[in-house]
Amino acid sequence: MQTILVLHNILRWGVLFFGVWTLINALSGVMSRRAYSVNDNRSNLFFMICCDLQLLIGLVLFFSNSWFDKLKAGMGPVMKNNYDRFFTVEHSAMMILAWILVHVGRTAVKKAPTDTAKHKKMLGFFGVAILLILLSIPWPFRPEIARPLFRWFN
Ligand code: HEM
Repeated sequence: MQTILVLHNILRWGVLFFGVWTLINALSGVMSRRAYSVNDNRSNLFFMICCDLQLLIGLVLFFSNSWFDKLKAGMGPVMKNNYDRFFTVEHSAMMILAWILVHVGRTAVKKAPTDTAKHKKMLGFFGVAILLILLSIPWPFRPEIARPLFRWFN
């Protein structure tokens, strides 16, 4: 399980890297009104792939690392404990919501009729998704739920 946790920790940097690259592309596209390019498609495709992998790994952690057992034992005690509530409810739910936004966003970008519309959809959907992700990461500066910036295999 330690290996899975390390992968989940490291892949967070992939999600953030491709998320920020996607946002920069979307912003520059909206401002300069340039054509929607292969580079734009590539950035949000890689962002989506990282989110898919992160969801899979997150689900493994959720079901195998005692979090689901805590929920089964009773919602009350989980909700009263900040640490348990964050990982079983808040982190998981917000990240799934962000994952849905990324998928809906990619379909919306594909279907948008003009290049400007594509860039605007990219900015809207992926912008909200990256915001949710940033707010739901257990950063080391967050009291009670702090986790390390990097973890490595023992
Ligand atoms: C973009 C999506 C996600 C990002 C960036 C992310 C990021 C992280 C980070 C940085 C940690 C702390 C890792 C550590 O302690 O070294 C963590 C822990 C965790 N994440 Fe995620 N996560 C994402 C999605 C999910 C999803 C969708 C789920 C579940 C459905 C999930 C479930 C968990 C659980 C259960 C833990 C605690 C693991 C443990 O200590 O047992 N994550 N996540």
